Parts: sequence; structure tokens; C-alpha cells
Amino acid sequence: MAKDPGRVLIFDTTLRDGEQSPGASLNLEEKLAIAHQLARLGVDIIEAGFPFASQGDFAAVQRIAESVGTNGQGPIICGLARASEADIKACAEAINPAHRKRIHTFIATSDIHLEHKLRKSRAEVLAIVPEMVSYAKSFVDDVEFSCEDAGRSDPDFLFEIIEAAISAGANTINIPDTVGYTTPTEFGELIESINNNVQNIDDAIISVHGHNDLGLAVANFLEAVKKGARQLECTINGIGERAGNAALEELVMGLHVRRSYYNPFFGREPINPTPLTAIRTEELTKTSRLVSNLTGMVVQPNKAIVGANAFAHESGIHQDGVLKNRLTYEIVDAKTVGLTDNRISLGKLSGRSAVRARLEELGYDLSREDLNDAFTRFKDLADRKRDITDRDLEAIVSEQVQQPEGRFQLKLVQVSCGSKLKPTATVVLNDQEGNEQSTAAIGTGPVDAVCRALNALAGEPNELVEFSVKSVTEGIDAMGEVTIRLRKDGKLYSGHSADTDVVVAAAQAFVNALNRLVSRQKLGSLHPQKDDVIEIARRSI
Ligand code: KIV
Ligand code: ZN
Repeated sequence: MAKDPGRVLIFDTTLRDGEQSPGASLNLEEKLAIAHQLARLGVDIIEAGFPFASQGDFAAVQRIAESVGTNGQGPIICGLARASEADIKACAEAINPAHRKRIHTFIATSDIHLEHKLRKSRAEVLAIVPEMVSYAKSFVDDVEFSCEDAGRSDPDFLFEIIEAAISAGANTINIPDTVGYTTPTEFGELIESINNNVQNIDDAIISVHGHNDLGLAVANFLEAVKKGARQLECTINGIGERAGNAALEELVMGLHVRRSYYNPFFGREPINPTPLTAIRTEELTKTSRLVSNLTGMVVQPNKAIVGANAFAHESGIHQDGVLKNRLTYEIVDAKTVGLTDNRISLGKLSGRSAVRARLEELGYDLSREDLNDAFTRFKDLADRKRDITDRDLEAIVSEQVQQPEGRFQLKLVQVSCGSKLKPTATVVLNDQEGNEQSTAAIGTGPVDAVCRALNALAGEPNELVEFSVKSVTEGIDAMGEVTIRLRKDGKLYSGHSADTDVVVAAAQAFVNALNRLVSRQKLGSLHPQKDDVIEIARRSI
């Protein structure tokens, strides 16, 4: 049986695989904010990015390694690298500042990937694996190796590859269901067969990674845990490529709530109260909101654990039952995941230090300048709204963290509309050189008019593919939260903003999306799984 740390290690890949979600790209400040919160959440490993992708990705991983990876007993900071020297070298440099660091290198092992993507024979791949694992080992002690598309690979070839990777020094072997194809029983059997057929498997921890194309990722992982997997690769809110990755909060709460069921698979008595993960579950809601606010990936209301309705009881029978005894219809106490109603925590008379303290608790560590800005916006909101909730505060600040350098700045937005009027918007924008420009436009509605005017000034032709508004809290004075997604050259860019005036929120969200579009276009970025692996041959750099 593979190495067993006695509990499950949580490997968070929100900043790498999660960020591969269409339109979810994050800037450096946003990645840092999320990494700090992941450390507070207690994840064991943060996969901070794919350093070879671009200078921006490299810088983000390096900053995370410097600031989160040097923090006492904080998480291991990991970077992804394809099985190529150039990737591995870049990764080693980026994670270097961290106290505890890991290189995660991978290559595909399924015939379909070998033939159509890598255009390599099994023998060639089998030769590359130990060479690249050894190369990674020359930089760090902690090396993880992944067999991409393991779920569709020939098990006998997989066993050979894994054995070679472990012999070359891999400490963790990751088994990805890259296309979300397997069923729980199959995936569990695959892990069991690896345990039974790989000679040196005792020298490595078995990890699992999986996508949710059939909605089975979490179920697959929990089955894998029963068969000896001890590291789970997951993302906050399950964000990620296509249908996403296995959701961290669901895995953690599954293992928490059903501990007595899973304990025996760890050789424990069912009643053993020791947690099966090191996650501080009270941080889950906060982390989910932070990730949703910064990525603009809205969490579906009925999403398990972190959806707005996850703890809401609508039907009279359920409400009656819960009032008599919570256990009648609730298996998780909302407080366990940090869901509290902080309605009356802040208001008009609250001072700067109270606002700062609450923001820090919510995961936002703002610079002095950003705090000043946030406080001004807080006061402005408190004039219009009596109770300021955590959700309001998050909405106020998340967009400040979102501003990349060299950005367009919205100076003014004004609309006239009504049943007998042609919706008209006037906008004033500071362009990237700091010049103030203004224009007006007519649209089918006020938001359309605003977007047309902004597009006319920005000169970055794009297609609006999503516009959604939801209220941050209840009540007529609630802030409206707007998410906008733009498409340019097949790539999606999202923007997010909140205001008590939804037209203002829409204008700001549009500008945020434009800013991402401009900065991402400048940087360019490789995709670890889709772009050509030019360097994959055994070449020196
Ligand atoms: O889905 C996948 O196979 C991956 C690997 C790079 C681990 O993300
Ligand atoms: Zn993946």
C-alpha cells in the first residue's frame, strides 16, 4: 500500500487548474489574496500556477512563494511544469523562495494523447518520465509526477510509468481523470490496481485529480480515498477546465460529516474524532466568496456547501422540523462552514479600524491606499444603506483588488432612460495613457448604451457574452452585483462590480473586463495541456 500520512492531504489547484476556467483569469494581486486565504484555510499544498506560461504567471508564482511560502508552517508551494527541461527550470526558479516547495511535472499516458497530442510512442514517453523526474529532483526534494489522462490509459503501461517515476525519485504520484470519464467504481479500482501492481508504490503518496464532466469528480475521489489515495487535488467552488475540478469544500465536508464511515479506511475506529483533513472548515464560506468575487465565477445557488441555498429551508414542513430539532433536515451546521449572519456588525458609525479588522477576517489584506479607498466607499454605502453585511464589504473591496496596472478608469457614467426615452449613456473614461475622454451612445437599454459608449472609447472590439445581475443581500437598498464576460479572439474576459445603482455597477464591471482583456493580451500565456510541448524532447536550454 502506498505511503499513508494518516489523513488526506488537500492539494489546492484553484490558482492553476481553476484559473484555466474560461474567463477566470486572475491578476497578481488577486492570486496573492487567494493564496493567503488558502493558507488560512489550511490547505497542505497550493499549486500556484504554471510558471513557464508567461512572465506574469512566473511572477505570480514567485510572489506567492515569497509571501505565503515563507510563513512558518504554511502550505507547500507547488508549480506545474510539463515534462520538459525549460518548464521544470522555470518552475524551480519561481518556487525557489518558498521554505517548502514542490515541482509538479506531468506527461500524458493515454494512447489517444500519445498519438494525437504528443505524437510519441509509449517507449519514448517511458524514457522521458524518469529523466524529467530526475531533472526536477536536481532542484527540489519534493517532486510530484502526473500521468495525464490516466483514467483512459492502459493500466499496464500506467504501472510501468509510475514505477519509473518513483524509481527516479517522485514522492507523489498523481492519477488524473483528465476528461472526467471514469465512474466511482472504476476509479476506485484503478487506484487499487496501482496499489497492487506497482512494486515500489510504498515509496510514494497516491494523489487523485479529476474533472467534473459527468458530475462524478467528488464521488470518484471519495472512492479513491477508500482504496488508498491520500492526496486530493481540488479547487474552491469546483472551478476549472470545462465542467470544473472536484470541489474542495464538498470533499472536505464529505470526509468531515461522514468521518465515521471513512475512518476505518484509515485504520481508525469509526468513532475516532480526529479530522481526516487539516482544513479549518469555518474558513470555507469566506474562501468560496473570495474566489467567486475575484474570478467572477458565480456560485450556483443550489451548490453543495457554499451555494446561497445550501442552508436555506423553504418548505414549511422543513422549517418546522428544523425549528424543533436542527438534525431533522440538516446534516451540516452552517456555522461549521463559517456561515454567520453579520448583519449588524458594521454601520454608519463604524470606524476605519473596525472596517480594516473585518476585512482582514474576510481575507482581504489591503494596502494603506486601498484601505482608504475601501473606507471611503464603505462610508458612501453606509449613507445609503443601514446595515453593512460581510457580503457588502466583500463587494466593495473585491473590485479594488481586481484593478490591473495600465488600466482604463471609469470617471463618470450617466444615463437617461424611461418608457418614452431612447436609452442614452454618457461616459467619461481615463484611457491607458491617463487622458480623459468622453462620449455618448444610444442603446436598446441603459446598460447597452453604457457598453456601447465604453467600447467606442476603449477601441477594443469585443463581443458581450454574459451580463448578469444579482443582489448582494436582501432588501430594496441592496447592492446589485454585476458580472460581465467579454469575448475577443476566442478568449473570455470577466469583470465584476457592485453598487446600489446597477447601471454604475454594470459600467464598472465592463471596464474591469476591458482592463483584463488589455493586460492579458499584452502578456499572452501558454496553456499547459493544450499548447504544443515544443521543449518536450530531451533538450538542454
Ligand atoms: O487534468 C489534468 O490532467 C491536469 C494535469 C496537468 C494534472 O490538470
Ligand atoms: Zn486538470
